[in-house]
Amino acid sequence: MWDKASLHELIATRMSGYQVIVVANRESYMHRSGSGGSIVCIRPASGMASALDPVMRASGGIWVGHGAGDADRSTVDEFDHVAVPPEDPSYTLRRVWLTKEQEEGYYHGLANEGLWPLCHITFTRPVFRPEHWAMYREVNALFGEAVLQEAGDRPSFVFIQDYHFGLLPRYLKERNPNLIIAQFWHIPWPNREVFRVFPWKEELLDGLLGNDLLGFHVRYHCQNFMDTIDRTLEARIDYEQAEIVRQNKTTLVRPFPISIDFERQEAMAASPEVEQEIRHWHSELGSRSQFLGIGIERIDYTKGIPERLRALDRFFEKYPEYRGRLTFFQVGVPSRGHVPQYQMIGAEIDQLVEKINWRWSTPGWRPLIYVKRHFSPVEMMALHRLANFCVVSALHDGMNLVAKEFVASRFDEDGVLLLSQFTGSALELTDALLFNPFAVDEMADAIHQALEMTPEERRRRMQRMRAAVRDNNVYRWAGKILSALVKVDAADPVGAPSGNGTAAQVGPSVSPLLAARSFPA
Ligand code: G6P
Repeated sequence: MWDKASLHELIATRMSGYQVIVVANRESYMHRSGSGGSIVCIRPASGMASALDPVMRASGGIWVGHGAGDADRSTVDEFDHVAVPPEDPSYTLRRVWLTKEQEEGYYHGLANEGLWPLCHITFTRPVFRPEHWAMYREVNALFGEAVLQEAGDRPSFVFIQDYHFGLLPRYLKERNPNLIIAQFWHIPWPNREVFRVFPWKEELLDGLLGNDLLGFHVRYHCQNFMDTIDRTLEARIDYEQAEIVRQNKTTLVRPFPISIDFERQEAMAASPEVEQEIRHWHSELGSRSQFLGIGIERIDYTKGIPERLRALDRFFEKYPEYRGRLTFFQVGVPSRGHVPQYQMIGAEIDQLVEKINWRWSTPGWRPLIYVKRHFSPVEMMALHRLANFCVVSALHDGMNLVAKEFVASRFDEDGVLLLSQFTGSALELTDALLFNPFAVDEMADAIHQALEMTPEERRRRMQRMRAAVRDNNVYRWAGKILSALVKVDAADPVGAPSGNGTAAQVGPSVSPLLAARSFPA
């Protein structure tokens, strides 16, 4: 089984001499001004950032990200570096500064008004503006310069995250062909019919083919990507090998389902801090009703929050015996509030919460509690542990790590996960109650089924889901990606015999990818 130590060993033996540079728009730690002139360090609500942080703790190296916190500038050194995590510095965060105009065009605009809805296909129309594209190009180059500076002439492995950086791989490869470049696309890749409306598709796709390796969560998205290339660019596609060759440059395209640090989440969920938080929430919520359901996410139209609230409304209509007995606690972390579509979804949720509470509340009982603020990992784990069920009703999601976090927190092997069938997680967590979030009665009935489930069945399902997340943890995800780069059989951690009977390689890096390059002494 993969863990922190085996990932560490893989990096030390197979990638010795290489520094690891992760590029992600969202930084893993953000500094904000607190009360009375203090500075607080928070962990942003991002599945991507929470998954990458343990990998970086294990590998060391540098994380290049946008310095978005209002106190970020006052916490870096003259190289814009800050050591993180604050309590146990293990890697370096290099902050890149953006002007308001750059942030508007590249982040709010092209990335979140254009590519995000285009790739998720949740019936929110993407917006494509030439001025956003211009900023996207500019900011990709800006991050490119930061990476080139950090890499210097040292052999480096650059691991790019997500849809903010479609042009970065090509930019880097052209300027330093010695870099080993991989990118992970954390959101779905749509089919080619959908993608063809993107106005700058040739340039974006060519940019992505600057990667040595491009990863998606599931095979279906790899297939969609290869079909999109086939339709759009001059390239040779080997569907069997999942490889694309363009102008003599090969890009491997592979599925790697992302995950979490199961052991750490499980241990933290049992910590005294979480116990204390549980007592707090218990006194807040415990007396209000017999059952507690939870939902935790960023306020985002892909997450299916209105759909879930309508299903709860339907549930109370259909199953009157649960009125007064179930409270649903919704955490909504404010997100991308500058984008009009996010303001609209926020207002819709507010209205629905008001309407449903007005309809069903009785003296002493409210069906919905909606808290709009950032939640710390400790607070979230306390909610995981208190809940009878957790709802993840995303309309489309590459993976969804809230589902995996809930499962990892439940070391008591109790609790029910209700999971949208349109998430990547649904392929692994088949013991969740799977439903179509667009079907209001189906979701209402799933809530009913969760509440009526016997303790034995809850335990059986939870045990199987926990085993799945424990095995397919984030170290395995990172280990598989690195192993694909160094072309070894990653069926087992370093040193163990590989599945086909040949011994796994030991010693320094031997990948054809790595070997093909000669590095400056
Ligand atoms: C998704 C994306 C991440 C992103 C996160 C939070 O999970 O895949 O790249 O960090 O949403 O969104 P934000 O815009 O706040 O970074």
